Amino acid sequence: MDKSVVVKIGGSLIFTENGENGDINVDRIHQYAKVLSTLKDDGLNLCVVVGGGKAARDYIKVLHKFNATEAQSDLMGIRISRINALLLIAALGKIAYPCPPREIPELAKALTTDKIIVMGGLQPGQSTNAVAAVVAEYTRSDMLINATSVDGVYTDDPKKDPTAKKIDELDYDEFQELIIKKGSRAGEYPLFDLVALKIVSRSSILTKIINGSDPDNILRAAKGEEIGTTVRRR
Ligand code: UTP
Repeated sequence: MDKSVVVKIGGSLIFTENGENGDINVDRIHQYAKVLSTLKDDGLNLCVVVGGGKAARDYIKVLHKFNATEAQSDLMGIRISRINALLLIAALGKIAYPCPPREIPELAKALTTDKIIVMGGLQPGQSTNAVAAVVAEYTRSDMLINATSVDGVYTDDPKKDPTAKKIDELDYDEFQELIIKKGSRAGEYPLFDLVALKIVSRSSILTKIINGSDPDNILRAAKGEEIGTTVRRR
C-alpha cells in the first residue's frame, strides 16, 4: 500500500522578522519545496497544510481593533493561510495541485491527481492543525508531521520557564492535559488546538511535532527518525 503523510508547516516558519520581501522567508519556502519534492520522488503521497503566521496575526490584530467578531477574524486567518499555501504551490511548480482545496470535497477531487496538495484553513473555530488532522484522517495517512518553530512539546513554555523539559513521547490524554490550559482566540491557537487533538486521538493518528526551522527535519521525521515529540496511542 502507498504511504501517505500530512505535513503541517506552521505559518511562523515562513516569515522572518524584519526580513526582505515583506518578511516572507523565500529561502525557507524554497527549501520546503525541495524536501517535499524529495519525499514525493521517494513515493510518498503528500498533503501539506500551511498556517497563517505573522501575516494572519497582523491582519487579525487590526480586525480586533475594529471590534470584529472572532469568526470574522478566523475567516481572515483562513484567507491568509491559503495565500501562504499559494506561495508553496508556486515554489513546488508542476508537482503541486494548483489551488488550495477550500473544503473536503475539493480535497477529494485533488486526491484523484498525483500532485502534492497544499492547503490552508477550512472553517472558523479551529487552527490549521485541525485542518492537518482532518486531512490525515480523511486520507488515512500514516503520519501527521507538525513542523513548528520549537523542538517539540515541553513540560511548560520554554520561553517563560527555562527549566521546562522537552517530552519525547506522549499519549493523547497526556497531550490534552498539557494544551487544555491555553487560550484559543483567532490568531492565537496553541501548539495544537482541541479540535485537532480530538481528531488525531479518535483515529489514533501518529503525530510528530518537530522543529521545522531546519526543513531536513521533515525528511527525518517522515523516515521514522525519533525527533521532536511523538504523540501516539500507547
Ligand atoms: P493558524 O493559527 O493555524 O496558523 O491559522 P499557524 O501558522 O499555525 O500559527 P503560528 O503562526 O504558526 O502560531 C491562522 C488563523 O486562521 C484561522 C484562525 O484564526 C487561526 O489562528 N483559522 C485557520 C481558522 O479559523 N480555521 C482554520 O481551519 C484554519
